[in-house]
Amino acid sequence: MQRDEQELTTYFADAPEDVSLADVDLERLPSHISVIMDGNGRWATRQGMERGQGHIAGIASLRETITACVRLGVDVLSAYAFSTENWKRPQQEVDLLMHLFATTLVKELPLFHQENVRLEFLGDIEALPQKTREVFEEGLSETADHTGMTLALAVNYGARAELARAARLIASEVKEGTLSVDDVDAACVSSHLYTADLPDPELLIRTSGELRLSNYLLWQLAYSEFYITDTLWPDFDRWELLRAIRAFQGRDRRFGGVKA
Ligand code: FPP
Repeated sequence: MQRDEQELTTYFADAPEDVSLADVDLERLPSHISVIMDGNGRWATRQGMERGQGHIAGIASLRETITACVRLGVDVLSAYAFSTENWKRPQQEVDLLMHLFATTLVKELPLFHQENVRLEFLGDIEALPQKTREVFEEGLSETADHTGMTLALAVNYGARAELARAARLIASEVKEGTLSVDDVDAACVSSHLYTADLPDPELLIRTSGELRLSNYLLWQLAYSEFYITDTLWPDFDRWELLRAIRAFQGRDRRFGGVKA
């Protein structure tokens, strides 16, 4: 991925004491960074605000993460925005999130054009409220030709539902005779997931200190490096991203083998 060195240096100027751009090797960036954006509600509660204010503040963190990844030259950024289990939240919060997704996407389209970001959705977006779905579809078609970073937003996403869907798709191809049972291997399963055209995440970041996957990309995260930070999502910024990349670059990745 191309990067503008001048823009990059400017964007990461004024570094805090413990981390700076010089701490990361730009030639060894994770090609796909994925984030579980957690802690919006707690952030708001701690500030004496409604949970919704935490989601609104979380949008700014996502925006900063998108810009930082574009500046660095990351190929793919994915983010868990709404799970298949999140429908269980109070209706008012679900409605607010759906509204925020739609309005944010409309508002950020100029950024996606400016930064050449291609949008993708992971999950069943057909089941979203009509307005949100329409805006998402518009976002998809408006950015389809962009050749820069891919931003994959997981909305109404659950990994178990995704794997069950892949099994259904594969079974129907076998039934129709277009796929042989012997050809159903790991690559075949991968090609029937929402992420079919994306590399697996190399780095998974989860904010707010929770040590679980919450039904997120269970298949794709098989060999990803995890970075868990206590920082709540609305406090996540470009520096925390650099800390995560620095930690990733310090890991010894063996993929089940032994060290060379
Ligand atoms: C988790 O915090 C966060 C979410 C449910 C996702 C919401 C994400 C955003 C609003 C970011 C913007 C996204 C888009 C696509 C515009 P939580 O509510 O689970 O926090 P808690 O664990 O502290 O309750």
